[in-house]
Amino acid sequence: MPGSGSVSAAIMIIGEGPGFNEDQEGLPFVGRSGKLLDELLAAVPIAREDVFITNVVKCRPPDNRDPLPDEVAACRPYLERQMELLDPRVVVTLGRVSMLRFYPKGKISEDHGKILEWEDRILLPLYHPAAGLRNPAIKQDLQQDVLRLPEAIQASIRLSADSPNAAKTIETQEQENEEQEITRPQDQTPAAEAQLFEPLLKNETTEEKEEGDRQLGMF
Ligand code: URA
Repeated sequence: MPGSGSVSAAIMIIGEGPGFNEDQEGLPFVGRSGKLLDELLAAVPIAREDVFITNVVKCRPPDNRDPLPDEVAACRPYLERQMELLDPRVVVTLGRVSMLRFYPKGKISEDHGKILEWEDRILLPLYHPAAGLRNPAIKQDLQQDVLRLPEAIQASIRLSADSPNAAKTIETQEQENEEQEITRPQDQTPAAEAQLFEPLLKNETTEEKEEGDRQLGMF
């Protein structure tokens, strides 16, 4: 399950790995966690279609368990290539496993909601929405932390301004978005990339589905 959303998004949201429903549908966050994610984004306000959502691992771990370190390592080049091609300015990680992929020394209970620099991007670690569904205090943290997204975007603009080699600014993205209104993204994408991202350009469904999230490791 490669992910879905806008291929010119400034924000990439990275969960842990597909659950049962995501595996079936080939789309990320289609269950109850996805509904909460949509609600959290709506408060900013940001639409799901304006970000790119993917996972650290691309296949569903058996029995909905947490991805193992070697599974994260096996999917590393895939996610790296996605980040290279989409070049997001802000990376939002959901849950501990996703945060550790970028920030191995991090502790989700201490670092959630912090605006961090990672390589030439901004990293905003959040709790996993599935943890928010189980624990009202974590849901509150999520509701507060997600409101830091505009600040994270501002920080990424400053970072881009400081780094002359930074590939994309938010202004560039706005321009790209305007262009996309007249040209379909598929048509702008070189053949090899189009093949890689073809499944990502499918329309998303926000239909309520049975939850298939993993039960462990969200804290
Ligand atoms: N949980 C995740 O981490 N990713 C998904 O895509 C769905 C649920």
